Amino acid sequence: MPLTTEQQSRIAALVSDHQAQPGGLLPLLHAVQDELGHVPDAATPDIARAFRLSQAEVRGVLSFYHDFRGEPPARHELRLCRAEACQSMGSEALAQRLRARTGLDDAGRSADGGLELRPVYCLGACACAPALLLDGELHARVDAAALDALLAGCLEEGGAC
Ligand code: FES
Repeated sequence: MPLTTEQQSRIAALVSDHQAQPGGLLPLLHAVQDELGHVPDAATPDIARAFRLSQAEVRGVLSFYHDFRGEPPARHELRLCRAEACQSMGSEALAQRLRARTGLDDAGRSADGGLELRPVYCLGACACAPALLLDGELHARVDAAALDALLAGCLEEGGAC
């Protein structure tokens, strides 16, 4: 999808801010995602040119770091922790419940853009496992009832969750 004029302008400004910075590519990509919610693939040629890299190198960085997204975020993003402490406290059962309730894979996105599931590997809340992030907000000691309530909250706002 081509960039909008506004996106082009914002990306150009951010490139200008980071271009001369040693190791500026990652901070630039984070800045683009912070501003636009994702790093559009259409921005890759300009970014590559600015950093004297190939487009493949820029795309390689984007794909290596799983937190970068190539499309706008869903209305709700739920990230269930799948690391060891949370696994030992029942995160796999929660993951199964999520799959059953949403019909999505562990890293799936609903067709209407209402919900995206993305695994995460430790949220720094191991003492309060199992934990998850919903729209950036930490929820700890999550059980099946709490998970259902969070999903219901998404549904109340409209659209499939
Ligand atoms: S392992 Fe889940 S928060 Fe650390």
